[in-house]
Amino acid sequence: MELLPQQYRHLFPTVQSRIMLASCSQSALAEPVSKAIQDYHDSLLHRGTNWNEAIDKTESARNEFARLIGAEPDEIAIVPSVSDALISVASSLSAVKKKHVVYTEMDFPAVSHIWQAQSDYNVSVIPSIDGELPLEQYETSITEETVLTCVPHVHYRDGCIQDIKAIAAITKRKGSMLFVDAYQSAGHIPIDVKEWGIDMLAAGTRKYMLGIPGMAFLYVRKELANELKPKASAWFGRENGFGVSSYAEGARRFQIGTPAFISVYAAAAALSLLNQIGMSRIRDHIKAVIADACQYAAEKGLKLAGAPSGQQPGMVSIRDERASETAALLKKKNVICAPRDNVIRLAPHFYNTKDELRYAIDEMAAMLSAR
Ligand SMILES: Cc1ncc(COP(=O)(O)O)c(C=O)c1O
Repeated sequence: MELLPQQYRHLFPTVQSRIMLASCSQSALAEPVSKAIQDYHDSLLHRGTNWNEAIDKTESARNEFARLIGAEPDEIAIVPSVSDALISVASSLSAVKKKHVVYTEMDFPAVSHIWQAQSDYNVSVIPSIDGELPLEQYETSITEETVLTCVPHVHYRDGCIQDIKAIAAITKRKGSMLFVDAYQSAGHIPIDVKEWGIDMLAAGTRKYMLGIPGMAFLYVRKELANELKPKASAWFGRENGFGVSSYAEGARRFQIGTPAFISVYAAAAALSLLNQIGMSRIRDHIKAVIADACQYAAEKGLKLAGAPSGQQPGMVSIRDERASETAALLKKKNVICAPRDNVIRLAPHFYNTKDELRYAIDEMAAMLSAR
């Protein structure tokens, strides 16, 4: 067995009986994360109060996420979801004169919903060409009038990985802020917000970050955060949460109310595990598993959705017009995957082996050829 699964599979009870390939939706629960959730529950059940401890855990989760993406803790806000993160960002731009926003066809639908609801803004949507978003499209769509450009790091359906550093160079030159949706990358692809020149980045905890729903992180570059005044703001985003007070320093000003502490406990434990293992080891393993699976799927005659110009995708996405039906059949074969539209997404993590992917692909190929 490959090294990482060999070292860490014992921490994941479900992988003993199932092939867990839905990390693009919900990853497998690790025992230390389960224990953290239990600790939260037990602290209320047996001690009756846990506020100070919960605030400490919130800071631990913040520190761990900052470490994961190469940021400082003060550049991280704790928010309920990625959608909430972008709504808060949108609420902070009203004082800026420029009213043009760019996002892409590969963004998660919530991005378009949010900008549709901001009637003050003109939007341009960059279309994808053959499953890619060529950099020239950014060059033409982003203008001197663009206040914010929103891009996904990894496409939620096909797994296409974007060159964020190259996009950031364009937004910087054009004077636009850059918001990166890293929900499909954080936890399995190394991210360096400083090196790449990212202004803002959001990611929730339940996908590759091994946590549960109810929580996301918003990174805002320190100098930029202090210039913005989010209208979606309340006591957790203030210098002093009680009484009249100014915005908190840094990204904390993007916080609103009490975090979902149970998710915070889970996130602190999950991110500590990820950081201990190290992002580059995780990436190396997953890359090898995906490369093997893509080649194997092609040999079996399955059509990959997300491998434009020979680029390796962030997940194995296989075309299937009856994806939900196939996912239900795969579940009967103990394969947990994530169907979306007309694709089956096989999204491995560091606990998966090449053999598991090959088993899932064999089962899928047999199902499709029997139709
Ligand atoms: C890339 C991406 N962004 C945003 C979201 C939505 O996240 P949230 O429900 O935390 O707003 C998802 C959910 O699947 C996603 O895949």
